[in-house]
Amino acid sequence: VVAQDLAGLRVVVSAGGTREPIDPVRFIGNLSSGRQGIALACAAQDRGADVTLVGANLTEPLDGVADVVRVGSTAELRESMRLLAPDADVVVMTAAVADFRPARTPASKIKKVPGQGPAPIELVENPDILAELARERLRPGQVVVGFAAETGDDTGDVWHHGRAKARRKGADLLVINPVGHGKGFGTDTNEVLIVDAHGETVAQAQGTKREVADAVWDTVLKASPPISS
Ligand code: C5P
Repeated sequence: VVAQDLAGLRVVVSAGGTREPIDPVRFIGNLSSGRQGIALACAAQDRGADVTLVGANLTEPLDGVADVVRVGSTAELRESMRLLAPDADVVVMTAAVADFRPARTPASKIKKVPGQGPAPIELVENPDILAELARERLRPGQVVVGFAAETGDDTGDVWHHGRAKARRKGADLLVINPVGHGKGFGTDTNEVLIVDAHGETVAQAQGTKREVADAVWDTVLKASPPISS
């Protein structure tokens, strides 16, 4: 039996990786599997929370998560998050969001013209959904949690970059997650440091993505007692 310690809490978790359309058949994407986000949604549901998973291009099994909203691009992810956030006690942005998107998306497929080189793809910056949600607090008292996948050979550097990101984003909690070199993306296990908005360590966790998910929820519960009823 799992303790129902998140009962009464409404949570929204984003997971997966966004795809930014280049034309009707091509996109700019990333390697996020969405497994950590699915594990977070699943753990919250098992612990009694009312969960909505906003899944960006998920192909992994959803492990029984009941309420799933499917999105593709960053624009769609942002729209869903902003629609759901006003009713959420906790918002967790696990999705890997593209920093940039093609400035224009032609209605028909871009063709290769013989004798001509590749046409450049102009990019424009995407809004930072996490930073917006943290700044605007669409529900008063809401806890906003972000993830930071950081690459680096030196774990010290990884934590350092993560702490700086925490201060920039303004989320209540940022889960710093080393990726690359067989870590993080697409793997079964994770090793994370959870920091607050000042970049100070509040918890550490390692293990399966489910174990890391449970550690994140434990930290959320400690950081701020349940607000809703
Ligand atoms: O800056 P970086 O992409 O490393 O930040 C990661 C965190 O910010 C994740 O929680 C991710 O979901 C969120 N993010 C976002 N909107 C963006 C970029 C990242 O919400 N445009």
